Amino acid sequence: MALPRSVLLIITGSVAAYKSLELIRLLKARGVAVTSILSKGGAKFITPLAVSSLTGTKTYDDLFSLTDEVEMGHIELSRVADVILVAPASANIIAKMAGGIADDLATTALLATNKPVIIAPAMNHKMWHHAATQRNLAQLKKDGVRVIEPTEGDMACGEFGMGRLAEPADIIKALEQFRSGALSGKRAIVTSGPTQEAIDPVRYIGNRSSGKQGHAIAEALANAGADVTLIHGPVLLPTPHGVTAIEAHHADAMLAAVEAALPADIFVGAAAVADWRPATTASQKLKKQNMLDTLTLEFVPTLDVLGSVAQHKNRPTLVIGFAAETDQVAVNARAKRLRKQCDWLLANDVSTAVFGADDNEVLVISAEGEETWKRQSKADIAAKLVEKIVHHFSATKLVKGKSA
Ligand code: CTP
Repeated sequence: MALPRSVLLIITGSVAAYKSLELIRLLKARGVAVTSILSKGGAKFITPLAVSSLTGTKTYDDLFSLTDEVEMGHIELSRVADVILVAPASANIIAKMAGGIADDLATTALLATNKPVIIAPAMNHKMWHHAATQRNLAQLKKDGVRVIEPTEGDMACGEFGMGRLAEPADIIKALEQFRSGALSGKRAIVTSGPTQEAIDPVRYIGNRSSGKQGHAIAEALANAGADVTLIHGPVLLPTPHGVTAIEAHHADAMLAAVEAALPADIFVGAAAVADWRPATTASQKLKKQNMLDTLTLEFVPTLDVLGSVAQHKNRPTLVIGFAAETDQVAVNARAKRLRKQCDWLLANDVSTAVFGADDNEVLVISAEGEETWKRQSKADIAAKLVEKIVHHFSATKLVKGKSA
């Protein structure tokens, strides 16, 4: 997959700043032009000389340097590269970006740019989990900033937890996927989140799905250049950048929305669609006559969205389902893949926390075989799935090319 031709790398104050030197080395080795801004905090950990030795260009560090402004103004600097990458991104710059503060060269460039922005955060795990940081990250994602999630491990401060800068090689992978164009020209439909089946105007039967996995897949597909329609139930998540979102709150509405969005090349059914809905929905709130009243509801099955897509006359080339299992995960999931006639099925063991969690472990089942993707962030699972999809389409193209 292709990397951007040029990157403006902003290095901010984190002990992980030393890893940005390795990142520059890897980018340069792949032919990417790198220009760098070293923030005041970043300069406490590495020197402009070290950065320039690797980029082969001037390292910018001061907003009000007249010489720099003559050479290249800060507005121009913010727009020369294909992409701005902030790595490591400290909690401080994340907060400033979320608030639109521009008090140094790095933050001014970030505010003035018309180019996509990607950040790779690095900080202490308490800072990462702090409500303010999470709020700022949510705001940045809403603003279209892509986040390369940090990893979990031993920290420089001696503590253990989430917040380590993603490894330079993984940052490169994320950059590759970012609008790589590998799936440009392909249409994808993704379902995500739970459904709510109404009992009466105030009550419903639903499930614990958060939509995090489905939304991450929609985002990763869009980053790879696909034209993505995300059909989702009630979720508390922002619409991923570059994705067309349609809300469908109950199973029948979800099926109707998916059928209306066909044809597509790729379908990913990540939604936790209700299997049953109440046989009737009361038009008025059900009332209890006295405190001891019990209520018996009759449920009827809903239509299967994934199964219907797999058997549709406009069946997408690649139909991918999920399986939420609490026991005999592999056995049940294998049977489910065949029953629903999907090409690949990603099985989750939901007896442990999966719904609402930020990470996931899946067993991927296809006609070609099975593989386990160990526990990792839902964003990483999404990236792996998109990598597999890209590989599938390029392999199909090769086979077609041969037989032509
Ligand atoms: N699915 C769907 N429509 C439904 C039910 C499920 O599209 N009405 C899809 C889900 O999006 C998922 C796959 O089917 O991709 C499997 O969902 P899961 O809940 O694991 O299985 P069920 O079909 O509900 O079967 P069971 O409850 O027996 O495990």
